Amino acid sequence: MHRRRFLATGGAMIAAPALIGRAFAAEAGRPLPMPEVLDLDAGAPQELAAIRGSHEFLSGTDTPVLGFGGGYMGPLLRVKRGQTARPAVRNGLGFPVSSHWHGLHVPGSVDGGPQLFIPPGETWKPELEIDQPAGTYWYHSHIHMQTGPQVYYGLAGMMIIEDPDAPDGGLPSTLGEDDLPLAVQDRAFDAGGALSYSSNGPAGMMGFRAAEIVVNGAIRPRANVPAGLVRLRLLNASNARIYDFAFEDRRAFHQVASDAGLLRAPAQRENLRLGPGERAEIVVDFSDAKPVRLLSAPDENSPMGGMMSFFMGGSGNQPEAVNRRDEFEVMSFAVDQGKTAKVLKLPQTLAGAPKLWAGEPVRTRRFDLNVHGGGMMGGGGMSMTISGQSMDLNVINHEVRTGDIELWEVTSASMAHPFHVHGTSFQIVSLDGRKVDPAAAGFKDVILVETSAQVLVRFDQKADKRTPYMYHCHILEHEDAGMMGQFTVS
Ligand code: C2O
Ligand code: CU
Ligand code: CU
Repeated sequence: MHRRRFLATGGAMIAAPALIGRAFAAEAGRPLPMPEVLDLDAGAPQELAAIRGSHEFLSGTDTPVLGFGGGYMGPLLRVKRGQTARPAVRNGLGFPVSSHWHGLHVPGSVDGGPQLFIPPGETWKPELEIDQPAGTYWYHSHIHMQTGPQVYYGLAGMMIIEDPDAPDGGLPSTLGEDDLPLAVQDRAFDAGGALSYSSNGPAGMMGFRAAEIVVNGAIRPRANVPAGLVRLRLLNASNARIYDFAFEDRRAFHQVASDAGLLRAPAQRENLRLGPGERAEIVVDFSDAKPVRLLSAPDENSPMGGMMSFFMGGSGNQPEAVNRRDEFEVMSFAVDQGKTAKVLKLPQTLAGAPKLWAGEPVRTRRFDLNVHGGGMMGGGGMSMTISGQSMDLNVINHEVRTGDIELWEVTSASMAHPFHVHGTSFQIVSLDGRKVDPAAAGFKDVILVETSAQVLVRFDQKADKRTPYMYHCHILEHEDAGMMGQFTVS
């Protein structure tokens, strides 16, 4: 019975009574898990097996999950610019999966999108020539209409690109010590401790959100850090939740990288908003040795405004608030005096930051992201479109040419959508009506569009019509419901 519910991917699932908050309170504060690191530059293909496993989110309870390699999620893939990564993705599951390299500038033929599904029992061996800036990327399954449940149950992992020719001069970089990859997600558990998921009704319209926050697969864990500067590689790997991160004591921190590479200089912030699929690297100063919690503001993204989402989604979707701002805990940090702080001073500029493109756009394309509601209860007739079209695997929506700089104008009607483009990193020109300094914002591959955005894209790799690239909303329930399109690059 568990099994059937567990793999009712995309199908209807009746919400079982949720475990009460007390059951989770005891789980918080366990040590932050570090994913296993898999270096993909060794020449020979290295296996990444999509298989079933179990994971102890809750002490003493084995929760059935999916993952790349057993257990929940997959290893942290580490690759180097200038080398060829050779993952061998084996599908040990009974349904098609894929592995999309989110943020990588690789040809459509190895991009891992929905056209490149791996049938059960087969192994896919793409060759990934890595030639792009160092940064924090990720990978996840990307099956047509099944991405939401497959990522939710664990078919995702983080990826780090290093660039031997552009060392990140002076930033903390000892993985697991002062350089922490953090995949932030929200998850729901039923009374038996199984993960629960639904993409029906309000969860389909607004995206699936849940009340328990997990980081690297642990509920609100605690990281023990040295009393110095620590780099956090934040990935919003949630299906739909938008985070607005801030420390409980409002300490300032510095953002040093966005989705696809370093910023030209560290930018001081007190909060940081990340939509699904987005990444940011921040550097936090723990030299005061004080413990502190990382919080997030609640997510009220909804086509009907915050109040309506509260009534329709129920308060059960919101993590428990810890203060009057209704912020909730994501994880905590404690300083371990036994650890040596290697970095105490932030560099003034980041020499490895990628250079902006020179040149004017040769054409403009428009992408209008829209939720067509099926009435108040989200029932019949709900559809998700981009410029009036729902995803159709047999339709190529756009044809682009390599090397052309294009202006892509994205509009969001009624709620914010994280717009993602495969095969490139883009520069922001404007966001929600305000001009953006592209050098300060850094290169991106997801942009959270409240009302409108203009970005410059340029593709260096090709994608033919058999394996086109995708653009889509990274709220996975929106993507699965059709808010996605395909394009070739010739
Ligand atoms: Cu991270 Cu097309 O996705
Ligand atoms: Cu992608
Ligand atoms: Cu969306």
